[in-house]
Amino acid sequence: MAEEAILGYLATSEEIPDSGQFASQHGFQHNDVVNVIKSLHGFRYIDAQDIKRESWVLTDEGKKYAADGSPEVQLFLAVPQEGSISKDELQKKLEPSVFKIGCSQAGKNKWVDMGKQVSRKVQHVEDKVKDLLIRIQKGDALGKDDINSLKARKLIVAQTWKGYSVKKGPNYAPTRKKVATDLTRENLQRGDWKEQEFKEYNFNAKGPPAEAGHLHPLLKVKQQLKNIFLQLGFEEMPTNNFVESSFWNFDALFQPQQHPARDSHDTFFLEVPSTTRELPEDYVKLVKRVHESGGYGSRGYMYDWKREEANKNLLRTHTTAVSTRMLYALAKQPFTPKRYFSIDRVFRNESVDRTHLAEFHQIEGLVCDKGLTLGDLIGVLNDFFSRLGMSKLRFKPAYNPYTEPSMEIFSYHEGLKKWVEIGNSGMFRPEMLLPMGFPEDVRVIAWGLSLERPTMILYGVDNIRDLFGHKVDLSLMKRNPICRLGID
Ligand code: PHE
Repeated sequence: MAEEAILGYLATSEEIPDSGQFASQHGFQHNDVVNVIKSLHGFRYIDAQDIKRESWVLTDEGKKYAADGSPEVQLFLAVPQEGSISKDELQKKLEPSVFKIGCSQAGKNKWVDMGKQVSRKVQHVEDKVKDLLIRIQKGDALGKDDINSLKARKLIVAQTWKGYSVKKGPNYAPTRKKVATDLTRENLQRGDWKEQEFKEYNFNAKGPPAEAGHLHPLLKVKQQLKNIFLQLGFEEMPTNNFVESSFWNFDALFQPQQHPARDSHDTFFLEVPSTTRELPEDYVKLVKRVHESGGYGSRGYMYDWKREEANKNLLRTHTTAVSTRMLYALAKQPFTPKRYFSIDRVFRNESVDRTHLAEFHQIEGLVCDKGLTLGDLIGVLNDFFSRLGMSKLRFKPAYNPYTEPSMEIFSYHEGLKKWVEIGNSGMFRPEMLLPMGFPEDVRVIAWGLSLERPTMILYGVDNIRDLFGHKVDLSLMKRNPICRLGID
């Protein structure tokens, strides 16, 4: 509609000087007219020149005074013609903001005497502010001083209006010709391609982005970490069992059955099947013994160890359950040193917030060899984390039921300018390793960290629910860059 009007108008007139006026004269929305102008200009039916106009519009406060009168006049009118009114009485008659502004402006204008009692100094005033505001509403042009004073009182703001002036273009025609975008089989059969006009190629147009598969940031970071472990000679452990028995998740790690982590507040237990079908009985006996009465130089926990508790199925709370199974299998073989790693999902019954979900991914590494020391652990951690780009590490003594000594790992965060906790580590206890059947001088150093933490830092995500779960915006996957760890 607007298109016909514009082309039709130009058939008889030289120019449309102002698209805004044109729109209101012909009953169109200016926006619609602008869109048509842009499109016709693109096909060079018309030439369009930008026009800009600065205009003034009333603020909400300005609109109120245009309707009700300026505060100073409202205040003046509330003061009796004869005698005076107390300031308190006057305040009750007016809105708080009108009273406040009115007092100061009416005082400045010398209209009233402001004391405890307020009285008129003049008998008649004119509401110039209101008149000016109404003139602006009508679109009148005002003098500089008036504009400045209204602007200073925040009663008006500048608004830039954009429109076009329009003339015929080189391809002008009173109606737009339909140009074909494709040469079809029918065009060829009918032979009408000879007369048909075809749309020109636009070599400047951007092509659609090539669609392909996209990897989630967690997968990209995981792949980089895998590469680091592989470069360091680690083998990946099979982590394809989310369901684990309490035995492998806790008991075999010398974690006592009364430990709070084994509570349903912290761990998801399975209802069906609620218990595990089989456990290695000989080993179970040794684990029971070490819990109850120790051995290998330990006193144990000195409590009645219950098989039913160990049988309970759960969603594994850490990948250390897998490490434990792997170490148990390793201990059955003639001893060979090993480096193992895993990166997979774990589950904890946590209340969900910006940084916690009830499921997350753990990265875990372990080295099993004779005569390893805490110095080896610190060395391996420095080596591993420096490949992630974290070369300033600090360690803090910590406690895990299954490691002694244990250390929390902190890294200096250059962006946050502080030390942040990045993982947990330790040397597995003899109470854990010796029942498995390892020779006495075998030591296992191990560490764990979450995959989400470094991913959030690397990809600038500050709410974990934006990274993982049903609220994730899929464009996060399409747009995120590749991951290169340790390269600044
Ligand atoms: N399992 C520990 C955790 O869940 C991490 C860890 C692994 C600590 C290995 C020490 C040794 O936090």
